[in-house]
Amino acid sequence: MSLKASLSLLSVALFPILTACVSLNPYIESRGRKCPPFSGNFTVSAYQLYPENGDFDFNNCVLYTGNLWNSSLGVYDPYRNKIKVVEFEGITHNPDLHLGGVQYNHNTNLLSIVVDAGAAFNTNGQDISGTNYIILWDPRSEKILYQHNLTTLTQGKYGAFQDIEHDPDDNTYVVGTFPSSIVKVSKSGKKVEPWYVNTSVNHTVAGYGGLATKGWTLITNDQQTGSLYRFDMRAKRGTPTLIKVTPPHRFANTDAIQLPRRYKGTVLLVAELGIGFGVYRDKKAYWEEAEFLGLVEWKGDPGFFLTAPLQVGDGVYANLEPFGDPGLNGPGTAGNRTDFLYWDITAKVDELLKNRTSGKDGVSRT
Ligand SMILES: *[C@@H]1O[C@H](CO)[C@@H](O)[C@H](O)[C@H]1NC(C)=O
Ligand SMILES: *[C@@H]1O[C@H](CO)[C@@H](O)[C@H](O)[C@H]1NC(C)=O
Ligand SMILES: *[C@@H]1O[C@H](CO)[C@@H](O)[C@H](O)[C@H]1NC(C)=O
Ligand SMILES: *[C@@H]1O[C@H](CO)[C@@H](O)[C@H](O)[C@H]1NC(C)=O
Ligand SMILES: *[C@@H]1O[C@H](CO)[C@@H](O)[C@H](O)[C@H]1NC(C)=O
Ligand SMILES: *[C@@H]1O[C@H](CO)[C@@H](O)[C@H](O)[C@H]1NC(C)=O
Ligand SMILES: *[C@@H]1O[C@H](CO)[C@@H](O)[C@H](O)[C@H]1NC(C)=O
Repeated sequence: MSLKASLSLLSVALFPILTACVSLNPYIESRGRKCPPFSGNFTVSAYQLYPENGDFDFNNCVLYTGNLWNSSLGVYDPYRNKIKVVEFEGITHNPDLHLGGVQYNHNTNLLSIVVDAGAAFNTNGQDISGTNYIILWDPRSEKILYQHNLTTLTQGKYGAFQDIEHDPDDNTYVVGTFPSSIVKVSKSGKKVEPWYVNTSVNHTVAGYGGLATKGWTLITNDQQTGSLYRFDMRAKRGTPTLIKVTPPHRFANTDAIQLPRRYKGTVLLVAELGIGFGVYRDKKAYWEEAEFLGLVEWKGDPGFFLTAPLQVGDGVYANLEPFGDPGLNGPGTAGNRTDFLYWDITAKVDELLKNRTSGKDGVSRT
């Protein structure tokens, strides 16, 4: 995230040009059926998409993308290679706001979206003022069910919200980075409360980055310590517990994390900015402790950053964000790119798992 910082400064106002949307409503065709097999690299073509994060809807077989600089939402059908771009009034094309984290709740068939005041990341937490939203959106009716201003709750004392998860009772958790915080929104959407926050930590310290869940266990990547922590979401207030990792592995700047469905909660991928993905495993999926298996490294164009691991269909992918592109309206705005590659890393992850199981790499196991 400090990367966004170095590449983005406050930008001049953008005058929105509304574009026609491709007609696409997956709910008519695909509801209730299993998603057909899907794997391999793919490219989403939409001018200035710049997806920073995403989440696949396994009920309706579409990928939601959080389009960072434009603050719009992408609804992509990988089977037909069609994308629809959804705009939100007051948010899309607002240069003060970024849209990144999106999380589909497969229990409710609703999408949670987090919109952040971009300045927090642009200034490495020096300026955490500005509006942050948590939004619940219904993809079927394309309506916003609630839109809460998180800054009303935080009073600007903590911010930089960027990722979301849900618990089995459909409560929503939003993670903030400067400093670490987790806000909980009740299922009804009526109660918004700080579930975990440590305001004694200076807000210029980068803390939690992403969120992932397995049952009632919530996992986060803490950049302050370079370690993974877990929480029990049944607790009234969140208490972090360190996940012991063997062999030890510390990360620096990280972004989103995911437990891809393919591995049934036993494999965690952590986006390490400028490096690739850290691959962790807990064969029991308890996440009290974990093995560090190694890295899936990005050795391509250094202008691309792996900001989020995500499963699409059967494949595990790297969301590649071209932060290296110069912004057309200055730093911190969208560049001129139209084609965005999603890199299939399934074989690379599987190879790390296989090597560790069979011991082919010669590393001794404990
Ligand atoms: C981004 O905004 C530009 C107009 O400023 C528009 O042409 C483009 O289609 C938008 N793309 C997305 C993915 O929102
Ligand atoms: C969000 O809340 C903050 C803090 O109360 C306030 O300063 C800001 O104006 C609000 N944003 C909007 C768009 O109302
Ligand atoms: C808050 O952070 C400080 C400094 O890192 C630490 O000593 C303290 O234990 C933390 N408190 C909580 C409640 O996490
Ligand atoms: C937080 O750290 C910054 C420097 O990074 C410093 O200027 C500021 O005074 C600190 N704030 C508090 C409340 O300690
Ligand atoms: C996009 O911008 C890059 C430089 O930022 C430039 O080299 C390239 O020609 C541009 N492409 C188009 C289609 O305008
Ligand atoms: C998929 O994309 C990656 C990253 O650009 C590339 O290295 C790889 O060769 C591609 N695979 C195929 C089958 O095209
Ligand atoms: C897995 O083991 C094979 C055989 O020793 C080795 O060539 C390969 O580099 C290893 N792969 C990883 C990802 O460690």
